[in-house]
Amino acid sequence: MTNELYRPQFHFSPQQNWMNDPNGLVYFHGEYHLFYQYHPHGTTWGPMHWGHAISRDLVHWEHAPIALEPDEHGQIFSGSAVVDWQDTTGFFNGEAGLVAIFTHHDQDPDSDLRRERQSLAYSSDYGRTWTTYSGNPVLSDARFPDFRDPKVFWHPQTNQWIMILASGQTVSIYHSANLKDWSFASQFGEGEGAHIGVWECPDLFELAIDGDPARTKWVMLVSIGNSAEYREGSRTQYFIGDFDGTVFKNDASPETVKWLDSGRDNYAGVSWSDVPAKDGRRIYVGWMSNWKYAQVTPTISWRSAMTIPRTLSLISRQDQIILIQQPVEELNRLKLDSSSWDETIVEPGCNLLSQLHLPCFVLEAEFELQTAAEFGFKVRASDLSETVVGYEVEKQEIFVDRSRSGEIAFHADFPGRHGVTIETSDRRLKLHIWVDTSSIEVFAGDGEAVITDLIFPGEEEQGLEIYALHGTVKLISLNITPLKSI
Ligand code: FRU
Repeated sequence: MTNELYRPQFHFSPQQNWMNDPNGLVYFHGEYHLFYQYHPHGTTWGPMHWGHAISRDLVHWEHAPIALEPDEHGQIFSGSAVVDWQDTTGFFNGEAGLVAIFTHHDQDPDSDLRRERQSLAYSSDYGRTWTTYSGNPVLSDARFPDFRDPKVFWHPQTNQWIMILASGQTVSIYHSANLKDWSFASQFGEGEGAHIGVWECPDLFELAIDGDPARTKWVMLVSIGNSAEYREGSRTQYFIGDFDGTVFKNDASPETVKWLDSGRDNYAGVSWSDVPAKDGRRIYVGWMSNWKYAQVTPTISWRSAMTIPRTLSLISRQDQIILIQQPVEELNRLKLDSSSWDETIVEPGCNLLSQLHLPCFVLEAEFELQTAAEFGFKVRASDLSETVVGYEVEKQEIFVDRSRSGEIAFHADFPGRHGVTIETSDRRLKLHIWVDTSSIEVFAGDGEAVITDLIFPGEEEQGLEIYALHGTVKLISLNITPLKSI
């Protein structure tokens, strides 16, 4: 099954059947846990379980048995996990253990309406087996039929647990001393950011600015569900602001909308809890699909993969604070021998890379703008199909065009071109591109512009091209490195 057409070679995918959101991301005892929304009995969405995988390096994953399955309170929807270091729950006899906080989803027997309530499960054996808490559910609010996806973290400044969860088209914040009893703190979101679908899968965390722990801001991620009117489908917005343990205050004007990713296939992403302070990274992973077409993508025995794990950071530039994403450095372990070029002028009609044929690789390039109106790469290319990563100089736009990327006909909204503005500093542009059997992830500049897109090229479509249109561009450096399979 690992060699099935489109099976990702360096992204996490379920052994078989349907997967959606990453859940319960937590680091404990040298292991990264990845739980995920899982339907073990089919390749489309169905009664939700938590699938489970474990990694020591965020790159190689070992599949573990299903951690949580539907019970008398309903299906197991998205949620998070934390290390309860001080045994605030009393589940662990004074030791540290893992607690999962998730949404139980069922129908209210009286009204027959959708009902979403928050529940707990815990593990005393490093996540191998899970017990659901006898006092479930621990938090409900009948005003919201959509009340889900709790993300919990310890807030040392106020010495308590914080939960942020989606409540209709807002997020709600709660406090707790023991993860079992929750009190309402505040609500955020009315009139702020994008409201073009239901809000889902929030996250909230503090990040240093330019790596300086004395200057920090809080980042809130909010995923927005698919709606028929928007071709973009489901995607993730974010806010930067301040959080005092009770209230989140958005720095931007309420109408400002910031998208985390300008491609179509990065949804419901959240960050790992309890990454040790000496590591210090805020590590994020998203579900690499889109509710617009997720259930009809052309894979056979399994459906969906996660993005590569990414580090999220804040940098200041002029008078702005910018969120950047960078692939985790552990991915470099997959690198085989690279081919390199430097100080080369790229001219129209002359492909420096015509000798290369690669299905899975990473490409790191730096360009200096010259007279070309557009330049970039074509990957997974043949006479019949190609995926284009280009930069349109006048529009200052980086884009991925998957209109001719291989299998595209399974959904009318799949083919297309997705772009985002990125200014070049000193007329220079850096591109960092990860290509797998069925995806492309583009990090432009320092990672302030990111495009994540699924593609479904044929097995034989492995050609590579570097191109320039209507003039030349100077390649300062280029490294292309095939990647080992995980
Ligand atoms: C997001 C989502 C969550 C929900 C889960 C159900 O993709 O809709 O809001 O908990 O998927 O599988």
